[in-house]
Amino acid sequence: MKAVIFDLDGVIVDTAKYHYLAWKKLAAELGFEFDLIHNEKLKGVSRMDSLNIVLETGGIEGLTEEKKAELAARKNGYYLKMIEKIDESEILPGIPQFIEKLKTEGYRIALGSASKSGKMILDKLNLSDQFDAVVDGNLVELAKPNPQVFVKAAELLGIPCENCIVVEDAGAGIEAALAGHMKCIGVGDKKVLGAANLVVSGTDQLAGVDFTVL
Ligand code: G6P
Ligand code: MG
Repeated sequence: MKAVIFDLDGVIVDTAKYHYLAWKKLAAELGFEFDLIHNEKLKGVSRMDSLNIVLETGGIEGLTEEKKAELAARKNGYYLKMIEKIDESEILPGIPQFIEKLKTEGYRIALGSASKSGKMILDKLNLSDQFDAVVDGNLVELAKPNPQVFVKAAELLGIPCENCIVVEDAGAGIEAALAGHMKCIGVGDKKVLGAANLVVSGTDQLAGVDFTVL
C-alpha cells in the first residue's frame, strides 16, 4: 500500500496568510515591521520556533520564557480570530480533485501538520472524513524539519515511510519528509523548494502529477 501525507497550511488551505498577518500584527505591537521575505522562514515551523524567528528579525533579545509564552498566545489569539469563519470555500484549488484521484487509485491519505489547530481546521473544511489518519501539532513534540510528524502519520496508517509521498509548501517540511525517507512534492517556487523530488507551481497541478517519476 502507498500513502500521501498532506501538510495543511499552504497546501490544503491558505491559512499561511493568516499566520503571516497574525505575526505581522504582533510585530507591529512590538515596534517593528515583519515582511513577507522573513515570513518564508516561518512556514512549517512550530509556534515557539516561529516566535523566536520573529523576535530575532525585530532585534528583540533576552525575553523571559513567561513573556515569550504570552506573546505566542497573543499571536495565536489573533490567528484563531482570523480563521474563526473559515470554511470549504477556502480549500485550495484542485485539492478535492486530487484527494478523489488518490482514493480512486487506492492511496491512503493522512494529515501531517505542525499546527496545533490542524484537526480543528480540517473539521471546519469538512475534510476530516476523507483522511485515514490525522497528525497535528498536539501529537508530536519535535517540529519540522524533524520528520516526527510524518513518521507518526505513516505509523498510524501502517505504511512504511518509503511508500509515503509528502505534499509540502515549506522548505522545513521538505527537509522533514526527506529525513523521514519519504518522497516529497513541493508546491510553490522551485527556487525555494528545489530539494523536493518534484515541484509544482500550485495545488491545481497536483491531480496531474505522474507519481512514477518520483
Ligand atoms: C504550520 C504553519 C506555521 C505555524 C505552525 C504552528 O506549520 O506553516 O506557520 O507556525 O503550523 O501552528 P500553530 O497553529 O500551532 O501555531
Ligand atoms: Mg505549510
